Amino acid sequence: MKSKVLVSLLSDGQVHSGERLAAELGVSRTAIWKQVRRALDEGFDIETVRGRGYRLLTPVDLLDADAILGELVEAHRNLISLTVLDEVDSTNTEIQRRVSKGVSGVPVVIADCQTMGRGRRGRPWRSPRGQNLYLSLGLTFQGGFAVLDGLSLALGVVVAETLDNLGVPGVRLKWPNDIFLPDGKLGGILVELQGELQEGVVQIIAGIGINVHMSQAEDVDQAWSSLSKISPQGAWSRNQIASALIAALLKGAETFSEKGFSAFREAWQARDLFEGQQLVAQGSGAIGIGCGVDEQGNYLVQADSGMVPVRAGEISLRVSL
Ligand code: BTN
Repeated sequence: MKSKVLVSLLSDGQVHSGERLAAELGVSRTAIWKQVRRALDEGFDIETVRGRGYRLLTPVDLLDADAILGELVEAHRNLISLTVLDEVDSTNTEIQRRVSKGVSGVPVVIADCQTMGRGRRGRPWRSPRGQNLYLSLGLTFQGGFAVLDGLSLALGVVVAETLDNLGVPGVRLKWPNDIFLPDGKLGGILVELQGELQEGVVQIIAGIGINVHMSQAEDVDQAWSSLSKISPQGAWSRNQIASALIAALLKGAETFSEKGFSAFREAWQARDLFEGQQLVAQGSGAIGIGCGVDEQGNYLVQADSGMVPVRAGEISLRVSL
């Protein structure tokens, strides 16, 4: 976003004269005028107030690495290597690249928009500029791939509890790790294995997408929600949500390393969207009632023939109508 600095100067919603903006940015007034044109092209709602200057009409929620770091405790600040990008193909892919190059600390990447954001099961993840939160971090765990059972569900619990603490009501989890509000999907988590760094040390990438300000998404084929639907535009700060998530994910990853999924299972069950629903497992065809998850994070369906565990990645569950 080329006009980001200009937009951040206008973000207080007051009228700023071209002369003052030019002085603040050390450029000519013509250059300011060009930046305003560019910002308008990028979708910012800037009014030219005759004889007085420019004003931003619709509030913007700009990402700011310093603001994100400023909300973290020192121990977390020192632990992470945070990068905030204007645009990237996918924040998960960017973590992959950084880990391959050998980044120090826990890599965290946040982007204002993604050109190839991806969801689970090979689906694209809608990632419009300036609207939502796209955040990935790279985590390492000791003990080989076997210790990762239930990790993505545990991360779902962490995200749901963080949103709860930020005042989001009614956050539920749809197995394995979709974040739901009563009117539809609010966000999702994509956990990818990067590989084994050394004997027993496994590297994963956790990518989290939360719809924050999104108000239109014609091409999304399921009911979706966004934080702006529960309280008005301007009430949510992506920086604040990002800081809260980073802190909670670092803590959650530590708990998961020590105790595994068992430390999160009860909290997961309490938010289970499928509980008591008549379900059908696409793939195996098992039909039955949703009964929560087992110790490995498999979903349990009470069928006529007995309890059927459904593995994430193998088959998906649908409410049977
Ligand atoms: C899903 O529900 O299908 C998972 C969606 C995960 C989306 C996030 S946005 C940040 C990160 N980067 C990606 O390309 N995907 C994840």
